[in-house]
Amino acid sequence: MSNDPLNQEPLADLDQLLIFGDPATRRTFLKQVAGTSAALALSPTLVTKKAEAAAPAATRPDTEAVEVQFVLNGRAVQLRLDPRVTLLDALREHLALTGTKKGCDHGQCGACTVLVNGQRINSCLSFAVTHEGDEITTIEGLAKGEELHPVQAAFLEHDGFQCGYCTPGQICSAVALLREGHAGSDGEIREWMSGNICRCGAYPNIVAAIRAAKAKESAA
Ligand code: FES
Ligand code: FES
Repeated sequence: MSNDPLNQEPLADLDQLLIFGDPATRRTFLKQVAGTSAALALSPTLVTKKAEAAAPAATRPDTEAVEVQFVLNGRAVQLRLDPRVTLLDALREHLALTGTKKGCDHGQCGACTVLVNGQRINSCLSFAVTHEGDEITTIEGLAKGEELHPVQAAFLEHDGFQCGYCTPGQICSAVALLREGHAGSDGEIREWMSGNICRCGAYPNIVAAIRAAKAKESAA
């Protein structure tokens, strides 16, 4: 074969390719790929074992359950839980209180806001077993029987929601905000509600609802 690049013979086998620096045929390459796929398909145990080895501790069922007691919406509650269960999951999965929503599960959206000893917290960021003796209030515990909490009534009156997914968190947050005295102006309300995201963009009506609840509270 000539060394002149302009005078090269065409490749005897058009399938010949340079793959990762080594000459190999396309057929060889495809065989290798097929072999790898078959290995994965035929050896799920191997794959599972590798995945298990790489799994974070939180997914391994090797932690002993811990007992916790708290007061939830005015009623004493006793649970035995894996200590890694968040308060949000304890409420939703163990106590069937699904009013509190899981949005991001990372403390960024506020959908999971509940009140603990009167303070608002993101329940997705808090382990349930750390709430021994606490008083926890969720959206289900705000109304008094048939009578809505004034903030709930104001959200209804002012259309403070569209899809409603963020609404339980918005309302719990607003209840705490009023107690904190952070509803002095629309700007202040927006600032102190900024941890509660509304994907529907119902913000103007949420602010109006909180303003109205504040006015009613002041008039009472
Ligand atoms: Fe807790 Fe988003 S679900 S902050
Ligand atoms: Fe839909 Fe807020 S009402 S996310």
